Amino acid sequence: MLTLGIETSCDETAAAVVRDGQEVLANIISSQSIHSKFGGVVPEIASRQHLKTILPVYEKALKEAGVNLDEIDLIAATNGPGLIGPLLVGLTFAKGLAFARDIPFVAVNHLEGHLVANLLEHKELKRHHLALIVSGGHTMLVEVRDFGEYQLLGATKDDAVGEAFDKVAKLLGLGYPGGAKLDKLAQSGNPSFVKFPRALRLEKSFEFSYSGLKTAVALYLKKLSETELKNQKADIAASFQEAAIEVLVDKTVLAAKQKNISDVALSGGVAANSRLRSLMQEKLSISGGRLFYPDIKLCTDNAAMIAAAGFYRYQKNGPDEFNIDATPYLKLV
Ligand code: KG4
Ligand code: ZN
Repeated sequence: MLTLGIETSCDETAAAVVRDGQEVLANIISSQSIHSKFGGVVPEIASRQHLKTILPVYEKALKEAGVNLDEIDLIAATNGPGLIGPLLVGLTFAKGLAFARDIPFVAVNHLEGHLVANLLEHKELKRHHLALIVSGGHTMLVEVRDFGEYQLLGATKDDAVGEAFDKVAKLLGLGYPGGAKLDKLAQSGNPSFVKFPRALRLEKSFEFSYSGLKTAVALYLKKLSETELKNQKADIAASFQEAAIEVLVDKTVLAAKQKNISDVALSGGVAANSRLRSLMQEKLSISGGRLFYPDIKLCTDNAAMIAAAGFYRYQKNGPDEFNIDATPYLKLV
């Protein structure tokens, strides 16, 4: 079964073709670099960019997959969570195509897409696993019992971890979105240079908080001269990253132990972080746990994960009605 996936929940216009929820035939992503000059995503501009790029991105996906629309058996599109304008562009485009060609349609929760990214790539990942979704908009620890059966163990009380990376990167003059650049800079810095706070680390709950850490970095930077900032930049980046990542790893490892779950899967843009991957691997291997994360192209927002999640959803529940709407604060559970 061939599924066409469409993803436009934030600032990536993406289309993909996936066979049987497993084999990626095309995965086209067009990132909107225009937002970097505003230091964040401007929803109105994002919507207009999606309108301009959705058709060429969709055409490119079909071409790369070597199929035409008549061969598509299912169309899946993200209907939330995300920015309302951007969501509506992709969802309406997908529903229009499906309606006009009489192809079944399914709406997909973006977070379920991130979870499925790991199933797409790692056939050996147990259906029952622990998932850490870490992106620009989310920080969530989820027990996945099977596809569609989720228990939320904890989430952030304030900022998402990716948001904290982006804000600190901006303070360090690394541009927007700066998570990946901060990661790279941190590799040449000393993670013990400044002891930034580890929020909620000692609490046994699985909740996270990142606004205090971001403020601590801002206050530290305020006291520095320009020369000091220049000399300490890599050390500050590494120190911030260590504080942000340590809490994620500690809580995930604790949850895996408490729930007796062997497999842990990272997803979302921050799953690309090198320190998160290495520290999680190190701590999990002590207890014999296994770590999985998708390739970078499936970590950040993409439509292959939406097509695969759509395929599973369709197998489980059949098609959705065309009156299904975009829901900016759509919940996973
Ligand atoms: O999943 P994603 O593409 O979009 C959302 O759904 O939010 O995640 C984007 C986020 C951004 O905050 C970006 O800075 C962050 O992921 N990110 C990283 C890295 N690569 C991307 N953060 C830390 N280290 C990285 N290597
Ligand atoms: Zn995402």
